[in-house]
Amino acid sequence: QEQSAEDGIYCDVIDGILMPPFFKQKRSEAYKAWTVLPDDIYITSFPKSGTTWTQHVVKLIKNNGKDDGVNTDKAMPWMEEAHPDEFKEMQSPRMFKTHMPYNLMFGGAPATSPSKFIYLARNPKDVSVSLYHHAKCFKLSDTEVAFPFSWDLFFEAFMTGQNHYGSWYDHVLPWWENKDAENILFLKYEDRKKNPRQAVEKIATFLSYNLDPDVLDSITQQSTFEAMKKNPATNWSWNKEKYTAEFVMMRKGVIGDWKNYYTPEQSKRMDEELKKQFPGTGLEFKFEE
Ligand code: A3P
Repeated sequence: QEQSAEDGIYCDVIDGILMPPFFKQKRSEAYKAWTVLPDDIYITSFPKSGTTWTQHVVKLIKNNGKDDGVNTDKAMPWMEEAHPDEFKEMQSPRMFKTHMPYNLMFGGAPATSPSKFIYLARNPKDVSVSLYHHAKCFKLSDTEVAFPFSWDLFFEAFMTGQNHYGSWYDHVLPWWENKDAENILFLKYEDRKKNPRQAVEKIATFLSYNLDPDVLDSITQQSTFEAMKKNPATNWSWNKEKYTAEFVMMRKGVIGDWKNYYTPEQSKRMDEELKKQFPGTGLEFKFEE
């Protein structure tokens, strides 16, 4: 059942979903029994949907617009990289980042838990291209990358969920179906791009922060793509050793870069798959600016 780097795919299979190998079975079991605290905040997403962007915004909201220089993954640790026991001493209010699929998270019960969840969704064409760039730069060693795939191969893998965190469709749908729960804020990358200030305000309101308009303006300024690309606390500079030299976290930050990778045939297949996967759910995405 279990696949490994030796099989050509750098992952573990957990409950039928390909997960990063550092998310070992024992951790996934432990996270099912995780105790959620009422003032916890979880920033959740399928990878490459604007997670870091949101982490930075949430941190700035909590600090009334002041950047304390603590990097996003220190301020909001990535759950899968750690065993739950490592968070025992963490002070409340705790903030985490996680890409865990809804059903693998805390016994599959985020919507009925007492804490708050912000879920980021992004159109799957841009997600797949962004993930392709991220994955192909991930090093196994100084001479070996974990995913030496071509775009065409990666596309095929993505279409069938043969990537970390499994099927994108399966990941997004349960969060969308639970989006009206009081403790869940479902945001789309494309809406944030169109009106970043409004998104900052939505997040602040959801987290029960009543910030001055000039603080909201300042947070919007500090969380632009350009500002975050320059900021060593947001641009993943602390992760350099894990990736090849060509890796950049703030890569393009646009809607529609997929057009530089998808063939017309691949685009058509994705459009058809979306129709098939989300009928009658009302879940739709924008694919261009
Ligand atoms: P691209 O690779 O398309 O550029 P995550 O944090 O979930 O891994 O998402 C990373 C993606 O979000 C990258 O997409 C990155 O450039 C984009 N991103 C990060 N900060 C952003 C910002 N402030 N505005 C817009 N896009 C941003």
